[in-house]
Amino acid sequence: MDDLDEQARAILKGNDRGGYTVPTGGLYPYQWNWDSVFAAAGFAEHDLSRAWEEIETLFSGQWSTGMVPHIIFHKVDPSYFPGPDIWGGVGPLPSSGISQPPIAATFIRALHALDPEGSEARVRALIPRLRDWHRWFFDWRGEGGAICVSHPWETGRDNCPDWDGPFANIQPEGVEQYYRRDTTHVKEDERPRSYDYDRYLYLVKLGHDCGWDEAHLKEVSPFRVADPTMTFTLLRANRDLLALSQAFGEPTDEIEGWIAAIEAGSEQLWNPEIGAYDCLDMRTGEHTGVISSASFLHWFAGVGEDRMLAHYDRITSDVRFSMPSTDPAHPQYEPRRYWRGPVWGMMNWLIATGLHEAGHEDRAEALRLNTAEVIRTGGFAEYFDPRDGSPAGGRNFTWTAATWLGWASPNTKGITCPVSS
Ligand code: DGY
Repeated sequence: MDDLDEQARAILKGNDRGGYTVPTGGLYPYQWNWDSVFAAAGFAEHDLSRAWEEIETLFSGQWSTGMVPHIIFHKVDPSYFPGPDIWGGVGPLPSSGISQPPIAATFIRALHALDPEGSEARVRALIPRLRDWHRWFFDWRGEGGAICVSHPWETGRDNCPDWDGPFANIQPEGVEQYYRRDTTHVKEDERPRSYDYDRYLYLVKLGHDCGWDEAHLKEVSPFRVADPTMTFTLLRANRDLLALSQAFGEPTDEIEGWIAAIEAGSEQLWNPEIGAYDCLDMRTGEHTGVISSASFLHWFAGVGEDRMLAHYDRITSDVRFSMPSTDPAHPQYEPRRYWRGPVWGMMNWLIATGLHEAGHEDRAEALRLNTAEVIRTGGFAEYFDPRDGSPAGGRNFTWTAATWLGWASPNTKGITCPVSS
C-alpha cells in the first residue's frame, strides 16, 4: 500500500461535485471534457460505477450538432473567468462553445473491458453519441483528414509556442476590458501572458457573436490550425469506436471512412524541415515548427512508425523529467510556463500507451517510472518543471491523481487501453 494511492483517491473525492469532477477547486471549478475522461479512468481503479457516471454527465452536455463542449458550467462559480455568459454556448446545459481532445471513446473501451457484461447497456447508449461527436469533428474540423481547432483551448495546449505564429496575425479588436481570475490562483509566470488572453477572448467573442455557427467560423475565423493532439486522439478514438461498434453490431462503414481519411490526412502534419509532426496553420499554409509533447502522440494514433524516435530519445535524455510540452531546444521553451515547457502526466500516459503498442516497451516503462517519480517529487500538481520535478500550476489535480491510480502507481492494477484495432 502506497500513501500516494490514498492521496490520489482523496483528491478525486475532494474534487467530486456529484456526478462530475472538477480539475481542481478555484482555478477550474467546472466540468472539463478530457479532464473528466481521465477522472473516470482514475475512479475506475476503485469505483467503476462512478467512472461511468462521470462520462454520462459529460455527454449530458452534448449539443444537437454532436459537439461535446470543453467546459460544462453545472453551477455558476465566480472564481473562474470566462464564465457561461461570455461563452454563450447553445447546448442543453450552459457550456463553452468549443470541444476538446476526443479521448472518450478510447477510455470507454478500456472501462468496458473491465466489466463487459455489467457495462453493456451503458456502452450501447454511448456509441451513437460518440459517433455524433466524431462526425462533428470530421464535418467541421476536418481539412483533408487533418483535424483543426478554432481556438487554442480546444487542444488543451493553451499557450504552446505553436500558436505564436497564428496569434501574430490576430488583432484582438472589440474585446471589452476583463479581469482574469486564473492569476489569483496560480503565479503569473506559470500561466499564459495577457497577450495570449486577449486573443483567447477575441476568439470566444467571435464564436459567441455568431451563436457558434461553425460554417460561419470556418469562413471568417483568423484562427484555424490543424493540430496533432486533435488529429491523433481522434484517429485513435475512431479505432476504438470501430472496435466497440463491431462488438455491439453497430454500423461501421462511416467510421472506417474516417479512419482512412485521417490516416492519410495526418501526413499533412509532417514537417520535413524539422523531421517531426507539428501544427499546420490553415490560414497561411505554414507549419509552426514546434516539436511538442503532442507530436509524440502519433504512436497512440497508430501512424508514422518510428519517424519521431530520434527526437524522442534526444529530448528524454536532455531533461530529468519527460515529456516536456515543448522541445527544450526550441527558443520559446519556458520550463515553468504552462504548455510552453512543463511536463503533464496525462500526456505521458497517452504517449506511453502508443509506445507500448508500437513495441517500444522499454521506453513506455521508463516513461511510466519517470512519471511516478515526478509525482513523488512534486505531488499531484497540474504540471511539473522538467528540470527538477517541482510542482507548478494548480494543486490537488484530478488528472494527475487519475494518472497515478490508472497508470503510474506501482500498486494499483491500472487501466489498460486495449490495443487499437
Ligand atoms: C483555462 O481557463 O486556462 C482553460 O485551460 C481553458 O480551457
